[in-house]
Amino acid sequence: MSSAWGNKVKISVFGESHGSAIGVVLDGAPAGLKLDMDELMLNMGRRAPGRDKAATQRKEADIPNIISGVLNGTTTGAPICCVIENTNKRSGDYGNLLTKPRPGHADYTGYVRYNGFSDIRGGGHFSGRLTAPIVFAGSICRQALKQNGIEIASHIYSIADIYDEPFEPVEIGHDLINRLNEKSFPLIDTDKEDKMRSVIENARLSGDSVGGIIECCAVGVKPGLGDPMFFGAENVISSVMFGVPAVKGIEFGAGFDMTKMRGSKSNDPFKYENGRVITTTNNNGGILGGITTGMPIIFRAAIKPTPSISQPQSTVDLQSGENATIEIIGRHDPCIASRASVVIESALALALINL
Ligand SMILES: Cc1cc2nc3c(=O)[nH]c(=O)nc-3n(C[C@H](O)[C@H](O)[C@H](O)COP(=O)(O)O)c2cc1C
Repeated sequence: MSSAWGNKVKISVFGESHGSAIGVVLDGAPAGLKLDMDELMLNMGRRAPGRDKAATQRKEADIPNIISGVLNGTTTGAPICCVIENTNKRSGDYGNLLTKPRPGHADYTGYVRYNGFSDIRGGGHFSGRLTAPIVFAGSICRQALKQNGIEIASHIYSIADIYDEPFEPVEIGHDLINRLNEKSFPLIDTDKEDKMRSVIENARLSGDSVGGIIECCAVGVKPGLGDPMFFGAENVISSVMFGVPAVKGIEFGAGFDMTKMRGSKSNDPFKYENGRVITTTNNNGGILGGITTGMPIIFRAAIKPTPSISQPQSTVDLQSGENATIEIIGRHDPCIASRASVVIESALALALINL
């Protein structure tokens, strides 16, 4: 099993949801970066469980214990190792999963792939909890990118069939970016919050879950980053995005909607503005031929409904070899999307620093 990713700046994520700790080694981060720990902790808090009422009530402090690579609050250039203790485990809730895999989760595939040895408690290494180290490492990369004029933000584009406003594709203002970066339930049109929350609450009350879409952007990215054919910006971003559990799709710019346009509408016309080449539309989401155009990078990631729901579901009993029913006890998010937003932003930071 390998959970390492990256080329110039690498991460290696370790731990299990109900083990003693989880963490990450971040290799290749720049030296001399003065870490803004308040900002880093704000990001950790946006992902952490038990803070927002739409999320699971499993409470975790998620305090990163930095054990190498940072001296007096500044990165030294050596590998940064961070350990996050698991303080709130209830492995008893997962007893029946040892033989009955949860539909929609990785219990069955993990069991097959690792010959029954994978740690199934709380989803083990497949748990959404393993995104805390991604947020830690991504937040450091994000601070390095910010020093180079690159800013990242995301918002909940949809929950089930309730939609927020999309990003304005050509120009995304700093005020909006700053506002979204502070929220655990980030929305462009805040009037949508009540409707989205009531869809989530209705799902929870019926022992069910809902999915959503996170729209994410990066502004200030220089033109000319990325390589054709297999190491383009889309490839690198998608590769790390699918490391985020529950991400089932990604589209850049106008994405699938481009198939309904004519070329005369989908092409982004070029124009000089203050000596700089820009495009007057941004249907390609800031990437052409795998190479950044200098326009905002915009993509949407599809987050599926939380697999662990409390309604009875059909499964198999791997021990008896018979069909079975499973009722999942435990604390699960009725919707993953809000907590996933800062994870998607952090994953984008990891992709951009590699580009
Ligand atoms: C922030 C976050 C929290 C998650 N919380 C849960 C959860 O409480 N219960 C659950 O069943 N899945 C949760 N997941 C999703 C599962 O980890 C994921 O669906 C599973 O590992 C299978 O992987 P796949 O959906 O990518 O195929 C979470 C994912 C993220 C990103």
